[in-house]
Amino acid sequence: MIQTPYYLIDKSKLQINMEKIARLRELSGAKALLALKCFATWGVFDFMADYMDGTTSSSLNEVRLGRERFGKETHAYSVAYADHEIDEVVSHADKIIFNSISQLTRFSDQSSGIIRGLRLNPGVSSSTFDLADPARPFSRLGEWDLKKVEPVMEMISGFMIHNNCENGDFALFDRMLGDIEQKFGPLLKKAEWVSLGGGIHFTGADYPLEQFAERLKRFSGEYDVQVYLEPGEASITKSTTLEVTVLDTLYNGKNLAIVDSSIEAHMLDLLIYRESAKIEPNTGGHRTMICGKSCLAGDIFGEFDFPAEVKIGDRISVQDAAGYTMVKKNWFNGVQMPSIAIRELDGSIRTVREFDYADFEHSLS
Ligand SMILES: Cc1ncc(COP(=O)(O)O)c(C=O)c1O
Repeated sequence: MIQTPYYLIDKSKLQINMEKIARLRELSGAKALLALKCFATWGVFDFMADYMDGTTSSSLNEVRLGRERFGKETHAYSVAYADHEIDEVVSHADKIIFNSISQLTRFSDQSSGIIRGLRLNPGVSSSTFDLADPARPFSRLGEWDLKKVEPVMEMISGFMIHNNCENGDFALFDRMLGDIEQKFGPLLKKAEWVSLGGGIHFTGADYPLEQFAERLKRFSGEYDVQVYLEPGEASITKSTTLEVTVLDTLYNGKNLAIVDSSIEAHMLDLLIYRESAKIEPNTGGHRTMICGKSCLAGDIFGEFDFPAEVKIGDRISVQDAAGYTMVKKNWFNGVQMPSIAIRELDGSIRTVREFDYADFEHSLS
């Protein structure tokens, strides 16, 4: 038995997403790049690289990781690059997408040897959460004024537009793509490639993959562009669990169980977006609040129904622990960092990374 806490990536579950991505590529002609901001656990990159076209990034570190560990096509994007980073970024990338005209012109010499693009902001998104809404008022994410973009068209050959956010609604995607075409049609006509970003939940069980593929193919034909997608969450959804052990139980009006992990340290996004963790099957007569072991009063995974009383020593699997989770883990309270384990297709499990006191110590000085 592997010592908890650990993240467990199940390749057979990952493969379900990968096969859908491969099918979409085949049906639509679109290319799919893994968004490293969501998932950068490179121990499974060799496996994923058979189904995807490459990676996209949000920083120098990510573009380097994509180039070195994933290979294939490597896109660089960042909200802003620093002067001392740009040469190295360019050295790792096949394409660089600038967030603003200001960055594009500032780094025009250094980036002249590779394909360049610009991020556009269509001013509409599928996000209902202000914090994650790229089209929020005064958004810094991309250019929106056609008149300003036209004069720099000779410096770029394509665009990136990311305005979907956990969007499982194909009709909404379709409508928003229509908005983009209306707004930026003249620019799209001059482009050779367009990345439609991430945030589209096309690997979900009920998503109409064929309709989606047809819409992408039509878009590609209409503007004569190579379409890219940048799936993060859609690539790894439901592939990974966080395995924890119950360290203590209390009753304070509710049954409480404290586990050897922390939502603040190991599943931070749930805290940021005020969501409950998922535990399956979540049925039974023993309702228990699962709590983290950090000092934060609200370090709570959620309340779940268990088939039997939760006891010290019980193991619990927290579902869906890959996206925006492993990339955000931190050493808050010095809580033991979860190891990383991979369940191979033959069912065998191997631990690929363990963290110890030296990692904690070296994370600061
Ligand atoms: C530019 C860009 N591409 C891709 C993604 C990946 O999105 P998701 O993980 O929701 O698919 C994001 C997420 O914020 C993004 O900002």
